[in-house]
Amino acid sequence: MVSLTWSTSHAVFVTEIDDEHKEIFEAVARLQAALASDGPLSEVRKLTQRLISCIVGHFAHEERLMRAARYGSLRWHKQRHSAASKRVGQFVLRIEQGDTKAGVELVEYLTSWLPEHAGLADRMMGAFLRNHRRSMFKVTFRAGTKPMDACAWVDVKGDAFDPQASEKCS
Ligand SMILES: [Fe+2]
Ligand SMILES: [Fe+2]
Repeated sequence: MVSLTWSTSHAVFVTEIDDEHKEIFEAVARLQAALASDGPLSEVRKLTQRLISCIVGHFAHEERLMRAARYGSLRWHKQRHSAASKRVGQFVLRIEQGDTKAGVELVEYLTSWLPEHAGLADRMMGAFLRNHRRSMFKVTFRAGTKPMDACAWVDVKGDAFDPQASEKCS
């Protein structure tokens, strides 16, 4: 089976989201390695729990960011998270019952689902969040700017300059 490795081809260009994706990809790879080496069930369970907690925290984080930015496709995106969580939950239940084959199926499922979701749904969200942050920065920047009449006008040489008294172009 192909091993999941994060690369810039999976980037959504929102630093905290990309960092969490890297963490999840690594958690999947660690679980895959434990399964491949026939590691003890306790280890498989521990790595599965760690992976699930990364995924649950990550979905909640993305949903908080989308809600705060009033993202129009929040509902659609959340539905994708819910469907994946439900599927993952089914594998976890079987792993808890000692079925390590479910561990392999979980890794296979996430190796396909994660890059696909990051490449479309998360990338769309990332583009929206970047634009939203840029527009918030402009508003903050403008709000902190002095009114026009409180500005000191200077010419290119740095000398005081009265725009009202400027020469008209001929
Ligand atoms: Fe997502
Ligand atoms: Fe994501």
